[in-house]
Amino acid sequence: MHPQLSLGLLLALSLSLQTVVAKIYTAPEQIANKQYDYIVVGAGTAGAVVAARISQLPAVKVLVIEAGLLDNGTQSDLLSIPLLAGQAANTIYDWNYTTVPQTGLDGNKIPLPRGFVVGGSSNLNNLVYMRGPKDEWARMQNVSGDSGWSWDNLQKYIFMNEQHASAWNHRCNAGEYNPVVHGNGPLLSSLTAMPNELDSRVLKAATELKGEFGPYVLDFNGGIGLGVGWIETTVGDSARSSSATAFMHPALDSQENLDLLINTQVTRLLPKTSGSLDFRTVEVSQGAAAPTYTFVATSEVILAAGAIGTPQILQLSGIGPKATLKTAGVTQLVDLPAVGSNLQDQALVFFHWAVNGSTLTDFLNDPAAIGAALQQYATNKTGIAASSVVFNTIGFLRLPESCDLLHGIEDPAAGPNSAHFQYSFLNAYAANPGQTGGPTSGDFISVSILVQSPTSAGSVNIVSKSPFVHPAIDPAYYTTKFDIGTAVEAVKTLEKIFAADAFHGFIGQPTADTAAALKSDAAIESYIRKFSASVKHPTSSARISKVNDTTGVVGPDLFVHKITGVRVVDASVLPFAPAGFPQAEVYIIAERAAALIMSKFDPFLTSK
Ligand SMILES: Cc1cc2nc3c(=O)[nH]c(=O)nc-3n(C[C@H](O)[C@H](O)[C@H](O)COP(=O)(O)OP(=O)(O)OC[C@H]3O[C@@H](n4cnc5c(N)ncnc54)[C@H](O)[C@@H]3O)c2cc1C
Ligand SMILES: *[C@@H]1O[C@H](CO)[C@@H](O)[C@H](O)[C@H]1NC(C)=O
Ligand SMILES: *[C@@H]1O[C@H](CO)[C@@H](O)[C@H](O)[C@H]1NC(C)=O
Ligand SMILES: *[C@@H]1O[C@H](CO)[C@@H](O)[C@H](O)[C@H]1NC(C)=O
Ligand SMILES: *[C@@H]1O[C@H](CO)[C@@H](O)[C@H](O)[C@H]1NC(C)=O
Ligand SMILES: *[C@@H]1O[C@H](CO)[C@@H](O)[C@H](O)[C@H]1NC(C)=O
Ligand SMILES: *[C@@H]1O[C@H](CO)[C@@H](O)[C@H](O)[C@H]1NC(C)=O
Repeated sequence: MHPQLSLGLLLALSLSLQTVVAKIYTAPEQIANKQYDYIVVGAGTAGAVVAARISQLPAVKVLVIEAGLLDNGTQSDLLSIPLLAGQAANTIYDWNYTTVPQTGLDGNKIPLPRGFVVGGSSNLNNLVYMRGPKDEWARMQNVSGDSGWSWDNLQKYIFMNEQHASAWNHRCNAGEYNPVVHGNGPLLSSLTAMPNELDSRVLKAATELKGEFGPYVLDFNGGIGLGVGWIETTVGDSARSSSATAFMHPALDSQENLDLLINTQVTRLLPKTSGSLDFRTVEVSQGAAAPTYTFVATSEVILAAGAIGTPQILQLSGIGPKATLKTAGVTQLVDLPAVGSNLQDQALVFFHWAVNGSTLTDFLNDPAAIGAALQQYATNKTGIAASSVVFNTIGFLRLPESCDLLHGIEDPAAGPNSAHFQYSFLNAYAANPGQTGGPTSGDFISVSILVQSPTSAGSVNIVSKSPFVHPAIDPAYYTTKFDIGTAVEAVKTLEKIFAADAFHGFIGQPTADTAAALKSDAAIESYIRKFSASVKHPTSSARISKVNDTTGVVGPDLFVHKITGVRVVDASVLPFAPAGFPQAEVYIIAERAAALIMSKFDPFLTSK
């Protein structure tokens, strides 16, 4: 027997006697030769893409180190079944982070789930796939000084990453998406199998109200940032399409030069020798009381640990702001103050109305009905569990130019054709955390309010030199006048939108909590501060900047400033909270990053 075979692999082999070429290790001591060309830290959304792409070069040896679990073991239905999307928070697949008390949210500590599993947060998220408007990428180009990040120049990476799939029932969805903006990549995206009355009312209102709430946008993945349209979700073949299913597993099953080490946390990067700026030595451990091991990357280390994990690792390595490191008891080796600063996230809150029409409220309140849907799914992967069904339509709007909130500040939107706020339309009653007394039966809808272009920014900072102590996470939600003011405006605008003919005879009374909130601006504000949760899109904690501009963390090529051999490829490099949704944006960044890395090997793989 080959000494490198791990227990996990043996188990897998005994389950299916197919040829499994890549190696999955469950402990660092199982790997005898600890030198690789590339070491990818985190098998998440970005990490799995980068690893799958660069291991296509047969001459390089790639190791991916993932703190969490494999995604195809116990309880993995929780990850794969579309109806259960979002339910893996606070399970074995979650890091279980919470924020520090949020002054903008009545002092509440907000849960911030992150994937602790191969596939990372792409395996836990709510499936929305939205690349962001052209403006978003123009801003990325501007901030980084690199035209390679422009919308036009990213098209080839977008196309090689994703493709449109049909819903399980193959319903005709012509006119609900634009085929020409979709590519031929392994990641699958699709529309809901079950459009509902709310969706058609929303789209009708977009046409009716034109610029006030609209226009209807055929496909938000075509670079458009304003209007109303359908949501595309990372679902294909009746199941979640994640960076694990689309990239990591196919690569593991076919590429011999790729190794995956799971259940193992990267604790820090070490300089080659004292005083060296070469940080390609990766320290790992399986727990606070477990031994540490080191691996060496001869070419590059790619940090893909996400917007919390990446700044944490850099700070633990002595790369970051002096005061933070000192407090935690870590010696500063490289002064890079932006590591962990600029953390942005968006807060989300639901308002509720009774409707005269059929919704999923009763279904979601009925364990027997959900059980039957899951039973049907288990039988033949069809039915209500087999696609995203609650949340199908979305609207992106701007504040009017005349709005006071925009006076005296630089417009925080990604560009002139990008939103200040967003509505998501849910075909069910979705309580906010901590909200009780809602309806338990009947037909209700929920509309979530989100400030798309928040000006609030906070930090993620280590508080201990132990890598197993969670960092202090402070998104600083609603700590600026613009953010809270915009959220209040969004709610008031929604009331006007619901007065459209398109909603006549459908939208009924608001629930008691919503009705009480709608009485005044102050009441809306207190409702928002009391009930907001995270949309779970943290970004920008290792943000991109221009060459040698150390007010950011990475340069345009994603190499960490001031040190050698380490790139960051994940949501932390986004310069601002996304104007779209981060999952798709992270996939795009990962594809270009892989091309930048591989360009050194093949002159025909250009980076621009
Ligand atoms: C519940 C939920 C709902 C969401 N809904 C949506 C949505 O509908 N649409 C959307 O666009 N976005 C959504 N998001 C956000 C989106 O999924 C993330 O922004 C995106 O997946 C982040 O990708 P990433 O590569 O930066 O990080 P991740 O995908 O989180 O990957 C980081 C990986 O690194 C690993 N890791 C971290 N630290 C270490 C370490 N020290 N050592 C080893 N490994 C480590 C982690 O375990 C993880 O596997 C949601 C997120 C969550 C959690
Ligand atoms: C997160 O919390 C759940 C529920 O308590 C637990 O089962 C899981 O192990 C926790 N995750 C981690 C990474 O510790
Ligand atoms: C580009 O960024 C600079 C600041 O770095 C800003 O002043 C300018 O308005 C930006 N231009 C565009 C087109 O976004
Ligand atoms: C889990 O995924 C690995 C890697 O793709 C594969 O080798 C293994 O067979 C899978 N295990 C199960 C139980 O499906
Ligand atoms: C799937 O199973 C359900 C019952 O569980 C059945 O009603 C349905 O017709 C089946 N669909 C297909 C396509 O086999
Ligand atoms: C509810 O909808 C039905 C049919 O769509 C309509 O006839 C009825 O007038 C509506 N009721 C109210 C209160 O709007
Ligand atoms: C960045 O800094 C390096 C090292 O100091 C220098 O060689 C290079 O010319 C600088 N590049 C730019 C664009 O300023």
